[in-house]
Amino acid sequence: MSGVRRLEGIPVLVGSDAAAIAREVATRIAELVRARAAKCRRAVLGLATGSTPLGVYRELRRLHTDCGLDFGNVETFNLDEYHPVDPASEHSYHRYMREKLFDHVDVPEDRIHIPRGDLAAAQVAAHCHAYEEAIREAGGIDLQILGIGRDGHIGFNEPGSARDSRTRLVHLDAVTRADAADEFGGLEKVPRQAITMGVATIMEAREIVLIALGAHKAEVVRRAVVGPVGSAVAATFLREHSAAVMYVDPPAATELLREIRTRRDSAGDRS
Ligand code: PGA
Repeated sequence: MSGVRRLEGIPVLVGSDAAAIAREVATRIAELVRARAAKCRRAVLGLATGSTPLGVYRELRRLHTDCGLDFGNVETFNLDEYHPVDPASEHSYHRYMREKLFDHVDVPEDRIHIPRGDLAAAQVAAHCHAYEEAIREAGGIDLQILGIGRDGHIGFNEPGSARDSRTRLVHLDAVTRADAADEFGGLEKVPRQAITMGVATIMEAREIVLIALGAHKAEVVRRAVVGPVGSAVAATFLREHSAAVMYVDPPAATELLREIRTRRDSAGDRS
């Protein structure tokens, strides 16, 4: 990592590239899993989907195969799922998690939790309530992995999501739907809704790791770290968490670093 800056309450680590960040985050997860196993306890992981965590899952699979990392004491809660979507569909996050992680490691089946995208509207509220309950029963999330959307969402907490929001059905923002269009083969095929953990659900995790990769995330990284805290950019709430950290690759760090330089220069001019 090329440097840690504690900015506006959140440590920002600029990694040399996506692979280095993935190794570092996977190592932290492995450390937690092993430390809990040594005490005969579960490690409860909050997991994300999308392109950002792919390197972390690749590294966790490698640690399982090559270094004997055992997931027998792991329980997982995914952040979100599209609605409606069939769990077997190639676009579902159920399918993503199987393909990228669960088919390759030994997390016990009954300890894998992903919001369901195939429930009728009338069943969704009870499902969301039960999801929150299951997190509580597991003892809370030890470590939550997050990506960030170009609109500042964490999970699918789109602009306007309240600090005290909980797991619920939400409408997806136009930016989020546009970013998913290629994957779905056209904007009109992207679901309009999703079930997501709330901001409050995420903020209760004991440790939070947000990863941002690529130049297209540079502006939102700047807003998340130095913009005003509030629902317009849900990721800003992480600055109020005592153990949240952001890992950013150099292209995603550019706007933030530019702003820091500008502030430093204008402070220098005044002195
Ligand atoms: P991405 O999505 O990892 O595909 O960039 C991140 C997010 O929307 O949270």
